[in-house]
Amino acid sequence: MLLAAEGETCDPGVGAPVRVARNVTRPSGDPCVTAPSADLPYGEVATEVRAPSPADDIAEILVDADSIARKVAELGAAIAADYAGKDPVLVSILKGALPFLADLMRQIPIRLSLDFLEVSSYGSSTESSGVVRILKDLAQPIEERHVLVVEDIVDTGFTLRYVLEHLQNQKPASLRLCTLLDKPARRIVPIEIDHRGFEIPDRFVVGYGLDYGERYRNLPFIGVLKPEVYGRL
Ligand code: IMP
Ligand code: MG
Repeated sequence: MLLAAEGETCDPGVGAPVRVARNVTRPSGDPCVTAPSADLPYGEVATEVRAPSPADDIAEILVDADSIARKVAELGAAIAADYAGKDPVLVSILKGALPFLADLMRQIPIRLSLDFLEVSSYGSSTESSGVVRILKDLAQPIEERHVLVVEDIVDTGFTLRYVLEHLQNQKPASLRLCTLLDKPARRIVPIEIDHRGFEIPDRFVVGYGLDYGERYRNLPFIGVLKPEVYGRL
């Protein structure tokens, strides 16, 4: 039998203490339900704390974890075919592309290496401004290497234009782009995408590496935040 707070509102987003009384039933699956306090006498009340989860702030899932995994496997196979015998370097852009890179590279069963760039784009937390700055540059030269940039999302295109120019100046043998998400409705700068995961509508998304105010990167799916979350961070 499942037990839950007696006379309290269930708010799974808050993670506030939940008073638990014995012999109070709730339908299973209710996120506020806590374990029964077996050692309490009948009718007594205990206090337990449920930690807030980033998933509580999600209004809608746009791409679920299974769909991401299937798409990543497809992309990996296509990239492996493109680069067979070429020993490419995957250049990933920190931090958003990190989970995508980690999953993608394990679906590319050819010889390859990794390098990282970290960039910041000035602007608000949901809008990039077009002014890009390199926070961390590549560790190894890419001259004459086949470079595949692995990115989380192409939005206005400002970041990628800057990054692709920066890499092209180092004279790689080839330079291509793989992005998990593409938001074409927001594009200001045209960007050629060689491998694309999902085209998504003009909505601000979080999860699977993507953040709002540095949070939500660890969600295993891609979703949209509840409106009340904006302004709270
Ligand atoms: P762009 O320069 O406008 O193309 O934006 C690129 C960067 O902005 C991405 O690499 C992300 O870090 C961030 N970004 C753009 N759209 C979103 C979004 O919907 N959610 C989270 N981050 C985003
Ligand atoms: Mg990014």
